[in-house]
Amino acid sequence: MDSILVTGNGPLNGQIPIAGAKNACLTLMPATLLSEEPLTLTNAPRLSDIKTMTQLLQSLGAEVSSLQDGQVQAMSSHNIDNHVAEYDIVRKMRASNLVLGPMLARLGQAVVSLPGGCAIGARPMDLHIHGLEALGAEIELKEGYLHAKAPRGLKGAEIELSFASVGATENIMMAATLAKGTTVIRNAAREPEIVDLADCLKKMGAHIDGAGSSSIIIEGVDRLHGATHPVVTDRIELGTYMLAPAICGGEVELLGGRMDLVGAFAEKLDQAGINVSETDKGLLVSRNNGRVKAVDVTTEPFPGFPTDLQAQMMALMCTAEGTSVLEEKIFENRFMHAPELTRMGANIEVHGGTATVTGVERLKGAPVMATDLRASVSLILAGLAAEGETLVNRVYHLDRGYEHVVRKFSGVGAKIERIKGS
Ligand code: UD1
Repeated sequence: MDSILVTGNGPLNGQIPIAGAKNACLTLMPATLLSEEPLTLTNAPRLSDIKTMTQLLQSLGAEVSSLQDGQVQAMSSHNIDNHVAEYDIVRKMRASNLVLGPMLARLGQAVVSLPGGCAIGARPMDLHIHGLEALGAEIELKEGYLHAKAPRGLKGAEIELSFASVGATENIMMAATLAKGTTVIRNAAREPEIVDLADCLKKMGAHIDGAGSSSIIIEGVDRLHGATHPVVTDRIELGTYMLAPAICGGEVELLGGRMDLVGAFAEKLDQAGINVSETDKGLLVSRNNGRVKAVDVTTEPFPGFPTDLQAQMMALMCTAEGTSVLEEKIFENRFMHAPELTRMGANIEVHGGTATVTGVERLKGAPVMATDLRASVSLILAGLAAEGETLVNRVYHLDRGYEHVVRKFSGVGAKIERIKGS
């Protein structure tokens, strides 16, 4: 298994291009199942999760080709001849569950294995199931698979989510585009990826209002057609690389970065003493001399501070002046990076969903283990700021969500290399 070797090397300077959003692409790709006509996505990120979604769609009979070095995903679902999403593919990635709503809407049936994904909590699917049942689907769990059918088609309904789940909002929204009548999703997730999905569905002929607010209204149509859509910028990759100059010092411009995608996060950086400003090409982040200040962080659904940036923010707080409290409100088991950061000399105490971090002057390099996608990159950030060498093992998690990670960090002067494993 490959690992990544990082050596603390002082301030970082230069530019980093930000890719299209993994989480947007993973919901845009299943949208192809809603139409017989081709869907083309541009600005797709080059990630193993995108390959997994490609395999899943192909297993259902969709044609998927990656063009221009994987940046363009051209898809066609004119011939869907299988309605079973097998465990072997689904277990690799939770977002596989996003084929459920579209398949059900288009084919009237779907069998989807319960997913796997990052080991960061229970992550059940009850909200997806209740939402689709409200649209008239009958759903049963048998031997680890959800068996869903809608023999008489789906019918619009009012659905109130008890939690603003991203995946449930996406699945219900996609299914409702082909349902008869009007669907209203209340307490819907407001993430930019939801807005991006709605924009793409609208290009395909769907009638959707309110995406980005907590009430989404979908007027069902008989059929959707083909479209071409650029994937929105990855706000988590953006936030991650914004932390590179924050933790190491220096000045880095994030090409394609947008403040509206990272508002709550940028505000915390500002409180910590990091400068963030908008430029013609993206966002510019710099840190002056001296240590960053400790700030408290609570993760929340968008527009709050994203759970997917909590591990990386913790890496920054490990070297801050003072004590910060990080509260994780989205996933119950998302501090697995804390013991690894502790191996590097960090001072972290975890109690339930709260981590208290007392900053140290300097972290020290150590061999560490990547436990999930965002944890992996937090260890790289910590390693960049540490004295000596940090070897991050089990980096396959990283390939799921960060394209060209070594190239992007070394482009701004970081000392980082990938070491091929056996
Ligand atoms: C998406 C993102 C993930 C991000 C998360 C929260 C994708 C592919 N992944 O995941 O990177 O960390 O949003 O911003 O877009 N829940 C239930 N029942 C359900 C569904 C969810 O209880 O039916 C709970 C989960 O256990 C979790 C919380 O709701 O505690 C958030 O989950 P959700 O918003 O659905 O996240 P995902 O869509 O899985």
